[in-house]
Amino acid sequence: MLAIIGGRGLTELANLEITHRQVLRTPYGEPSCAFLFGTLNQHEVIFLARHGYGYTIPPHLVNYRANLWALREQGVNEVVSVATVGGIRADLTPGIIVVPDQIIDYTHGRDATFFDTRDTSYTNVDFTLPYCPRLRRRILRSAAEVQQPCLDGGVYAATQGPRLDSVAEINRYERDGADMVGMTGMPETALAMELEMNYATIAVVVNHAAGRGDSKNGIHMEQVNVAASAAMARVRSILECVVNCDGD
Ligand code: HPA
Repeated sequence: MLAIIGGRGLTELANLEITHRQVLRTPYGEPSCAFLFGTLNQHEVIFLARHGYGYTIPPHLVNYRANLWALREQGVNEVVSVATVGGIRADLTPGIIVVPDQIIDYTHGRDATFFDTRDTSYTNVDFTLPYCPRLRRRILRSAAEVQQPCLDGGVYAATQGPRLDSVAEINRYERDGADMVGMTGMPETALAMELEMNYATIAVVVNHAAGRGDSKNGIHMEQVNVAASAAMARVRSILECVVNCDGD
């Protein structure tokens, strides 16, 4: 079963035919909100709003472990996450959709692993390819099919938030090799890997990162929200196609 985790601008899926809602509990606490079970383009999916339906949970307070654990418990083995990002690379301008292939973790103090006790055996998960190559390809193919331009690959810098970044921080992320910056990619990506779920992200550029493009002197959240809402109709059409095709 496939799940979609929506972020800013995607707290609901207009094209999802909801069959039921369910509040779930896990050993790690409660997920961000009730899961929506339904069909998208006649395929069963689960939808979860990462920040809650009222968009009330900031990135550093999202219970990523409960979200992923509860999805796994419901039989989910594929997760498409939708996340908004600031564009660092010059071609990542507002409105661009990109499927990252690498991630760097700058977050701290988040519950970042399921292996957090001494009494369970643990493994060092292989994070060489943090995003599932097959699911990435499926997203890219779906985007092409619905004629939505979508860039293949890029390095996502996951920051702590909830504040935005300084110019010096963005310069540092760029020197590190990052192409885009967002606040929710970690630990979500790694937790999905620990649970052996296939996970990939559709990143929507909603602003130039600090110091870039028209963000030389600041970032205006009203513009960010407008850009996010505008892009999500395109993301929805990609998602409709993703659920419809499998694998390679
Ligand atoms: N920085 C960090 N996270 C973000 C940004 C940004 O510029 N835009 C959207 N999420």
